[in-house]
Amino acid sequence: MSIRILATSPLVGPALSELGARFPELRLASFRSPEWNAVLSEAEALVVLLSDALTEAELDAAPRLKAIGTLSVGVNHLPVAGCRSRGITIVNTPDVLTDATADLALALLLALTRRVAEGEALVRSNLWKGWEPDQLLGSSIAGKHCGILGSGPIGLAFARRVWALGMTPLFWDREGRGGEVDFGVGRGPRLALSDLLRTSAVLSIHCPLTDQTRHMLDRGALSQLPEGAVIINTARGGIMDEDAAIDLLAAGRLGGVGLDVYEGEPRFNPRWLQAPRTVLLPHLGSATVETREAMARLLCDGLAAALSTSR
Ligand code: 8YV
Repeated sequence: MSIRILATSPLVGPALSELGARFPELRLASFRSPEWNAVLSEAEALVVLLSDALTEAELDAAPRLKAIGTLSVGVNHLPVAGCRSRGITIVNTPDVLTDATADLALALLLALTRRVAEGEALVRSNLWKGWEPDQLLGSSIAGKHCGILGSGPIGLAFARRVWALGMTPLFWDREGRGGEVDFGVGRGPRLALSDLLRTSAVLSIHCPLTDQTRHMLDRGALSQLPEGAVIINTARGGIMDEDAAIDLLAAGRLGGVGLDVYEGEPRFNPRWLQAPRTVLLPHLGSATVETREAMARLLCDGLAAALSTSR
């Protein structure tokens, strides 16, 4: 049987099976497995994950390709310009993962500032001797500034969450527009990066990885953060210089780093494992049942539409 849709992974919920019922020429094969390579030339649509970094050469090897569906809002793993020039539609999954990702960023923020992981480890070690006035003291967040890199839906949703906890959201003025960002329940100023960094007790990253943002938080930028600042990254590794962040943590300059994403993941800088005051998660931003089902639905509906119009 010929292949129309080539998917690298099953998805959560019924959407992919329903797509397969509608387009029986759907094949599941792991990314770059011999089977995937063998049928790529026949595929009219691909289903990929954010870890499947497609190349232009693979687009060339798939001359019938009309659409690529990625189970992610981010498209930095796809040859976007190459898709555009070949008329290949990219179907991604914005909006449905906004709340889940902002929730996870908040979980990292609270886990770090209230030392949740250390407290849990203490109880589980069975070495806890009882309550003490200065035991595992964290830091309060109410009344402090929260710098937000990225004023898309996830950045705004995170702003609402920290605002509800008494923080003042500040936004990075990526385009030098000035003015304010309306985050729904309030407004926050747009600031030049160095002004934002100098005043942020918490810095949370919510922008895509692009040529502009790659290593934008280099050693010089990170050194501008106030002493004890906390950094949260649920967007993409590669935006922050991780070695510089680890050095600043080791020197006691940063108050903590909470990561859900890593440069080159699933591999990651082994120095993170020894770095103090960190909470390290395995890219769980959108990992709720409801969100992953909604992402799969959006992706499959988008591919069905793209294939139907191109029949
Ligand atoms: C994450 C993702 O939750 O959709 C993506 O691009 O990486 C998601 O699954 C993410 O961190 C949101 O930006």
